[in-house]
Amino acid sequence: MTQFVAAIDQGTTSTRCMIFDHSGHVVAVEQHEHTQIFPQAGWVEHDPIEIWDNVRNVTAGALANADLTAADIASVGITNQRETAVVWERATGKPVYNAIVWQDTRTDRICTALAGEDGPKKYTEVTGLPLATYFSGPKVKWILDNVEGAREKAEAGELCFGTMDTWVLWNMTGGVDGGVHATDPTNASRTLLMDLDTLAWDSAICADMGIPESMLPEIRSSSETFGFVRERGTLSGVPIAGILGDQQAATFGQACLSPGEAKNTYGTGNFVLLNTGTEKVMSKNGLLTTVCYKIGEQPTVYALEGSIAVTGSLVQWLRDNLGMIDNAADIEVNARSVDDNGGAYFVPAFSGLFAPHWRADARGAIVGLTRFVNKGHLARAVLEATAYQSREVIEAMNLDSGVDLKVLKVDGGMVANELLMQFQADLLDVEVIRPVVAETTALGAAYAAGLAVGYWESEDDIRSNWAKDKSWTPSMDSAERERLYAGWQKAVTRTLDWVD
Ligand code: G3P
Repeated sequence: MTQFVAAIDQGTTSTRCMIFDHSGHVVAVEQHEHTQIFPQAGWVEHDPIEIWDNVRNVTAGALANADLTAADIASVGITNQRETAVVWERATGKPVYNAIVWQDTRTDRICTALAGEDGPKKYTEVTGLPLATYFSGPKVKWILDNVEGAREKAEAGELCFGTMDTWVLWNMTGGVDGGVHATDPTNASRTLLMDLDTLAWDSAICADMGIPESMLPEIRSSSETFGFVRERGTLSGVPIAGILGDQQAATFGQACLSPGEAKNTYGTGNFVLLNTGTEKVMSKNGLLTTVCYKIGEQPTVYALEGSIAVTGSLVQWLRDNLGMIDNAADIEVNARSVDDNGGAYFVPAFSGLFAPHWRADARGAIVGLTRFVNKGHLARAVLEATAYQSREVIEAMNLDSGVDLKVLKVDGGMVANELLMQFQADLLDVEVIRPVVAETTALGAAYAAGLAVGYWESEDDIRSNWAKDKSWTPSMDSAERERLYAGWQKAVTRTLDWVD
């Protein structure tokens, strides 16, 4: 009997393969970072070939680390950075351009032109999304408009588009030799091209953006057998049976399976998702309406999402661009050297501001500086920025849903940071809970893949596997909480109208 399920997590900064047992515990992991390409200000690209190599290498590595073979793996799930767009030639498997990453703002003008007199909400009714640089459709349009010969080839049916799940799936299932060109509704719901009710591509929007439907993947469910691994790698013959965008995967892995349950993932950015059940709730407060998951033939489950572009990547920026710290963990050490932020606020609007503001014209700022401010205060301001931004989207969520969040489940790399977790609880005035398995993104994809092949029987298995590791309860007095937050809100106003 096969004993394990594997998940490939193709994230913004790295690609991982994790192997889980039936209790949802991690048995093996292998992770490789890939190059972040910044050709000019506001542009962010990845090399799809480098990423595909990493997928193969981490898969082989994870199996080797636990001394396993394909015969031990019941199924594999894929989870991924969402929105990032790749366009490749069907016949050769060659990308026509680098992947344009979700953080990239080059489509600003395209979005304004598409919005026209209707404004950024032009497609919101259908897609649940504002017309913003974040989403894939305008990125595909940019490639077709700017890469020589791309539009002609696309119109001749010679090109494929995919988010990273599709790119990985197509390659794993044989690539030019019959690769499966498909995606799931969580990823498709981030393209600005999918109808949230029908889970089908919207022909009118595709035509508006000049994107031929022949290049779009088939939208299937999040949990079913998409195909079998065919490339001569280590997972050969294993069914690929789950696909979920990474934030939806984390929601699933956190067992937020009932309406009203929410999680906050602290990754490159932060993403708060609230399960709203089979009901699609349209936001009035700057959140996205998105697909949470669709398990096989079961009804679609929707979510409200607060997407924050820059949180963990701000720590990375301090390390890589400023050299202020040697490794990410040093940020907490520096922040603990002081009692508070010393009056400094850091608004990391590197990709403009996402939810709830949606301001492409914003750029990052550090405000409130005096001679008193030192490295420790700045480190603290960096960490606090994550918590303030999370509060902004959770307040919007409370308004949209009419119910105040009682507890917040958290996961992702930064939840190891105890100072941040306590500050988050203080700033929200709610309990913050970290599960034993904080790698909920990969776990969620594994669950989707395992459910499809009967490795796990039902969502009850997911619920009973979830266990609390630690929680933080609020201890800050409310006057201090509101004073700090008012400072943040003022700081945000200083970042707006920066780009024409
Ligand atoms: O929408 C972008 C999101 O999916 C990226 O997640 O974890 O790769 O930063 P992450």
